[in-house]
Amino acid sequence: MPNSHIPVITIDGPTASGKGTVAHKVADKLGFHCLDSGSLYRLTALTAIRRGSDLHDEHAIAKLAEHLPVSFAGGEILLAHENVSQAIRAEEVGNMASQIAALPTVRQALYALQLGFRKAPGLVADGRDMGTVIFPNAQLKVFLTASVEARAQRRYKQLIDKGFSANMEDLLSDLQARDDRDTHRAIAPLVPAEGAHFLDTSNMTADQAIEQVLQWYAHLK
Ligand code: DC
Repeated sequence: MPNSHIPVITIDGPTASGKGTVAHKVADKLGFHCLDSGSLYRLTALTAIRRGSDLHDEHAIAKLAEHLPVSFAGGEILLAHENVSQAIRAEEVGNMASQIAALPTVRQALYALQLGFRKAPGLVADGRDMGTVIFPNAQLKVFLTASVEARAQRRYKQLIDKGFSANMEDLLSDLQARDDRDTHRAIAPLVPAEGAHFLDTSNMTADQAIEQVLQWYAHLK
């Protein structure tokens, strides 16, 4: 691998575990790039929903993934020239993302795009398979988790803060269904990478989790 010397920190974990916040803040502190790999599955899902694509047509969905007109600018996510940063966070899009993420050709279509984020001075990548499949030679791998109740509460607050409506019971059962699908799918399931550091954030603030990851990284050197 020509760029394997460029440091990568992978942060994998279940939905709403806080890995996105931790990844962004760690990247900011280190001056690294950040890859929110879930956004790529969400963008593919959003495009499929808008086009009314058939979810069972794996090749059509993979084509959408392969030709995503995506760009990341100043923390915002653009699809063609439209800012879809908020739209991709809707629960409907997340649920659909989890379904299409089980399709092997969709994962294959997004593979090279993800590798391209490994640029100097370094990358923090969050998702489900960052440490197991995409960057198996990462310098630091973290498996970040939290209880399903803690995650449902965080997701509830996030949705309300963003002006979406939310129902706690629906959120809990959606999270459980997505955990189940993401953990048990045949391809690139959510499992801790070999050598991953475990971080249970159920009773931790985001700042404490960020500090822990930075400490692990500092101790690598
Ligand atoms: O992290 P997130 O909730 O934004 O991800 C949305 C969905 O995308 C998630 O349910 C599973 C899928 N995903 C994946 O399969 N692999 C990744 N590396 C990231 C996300």
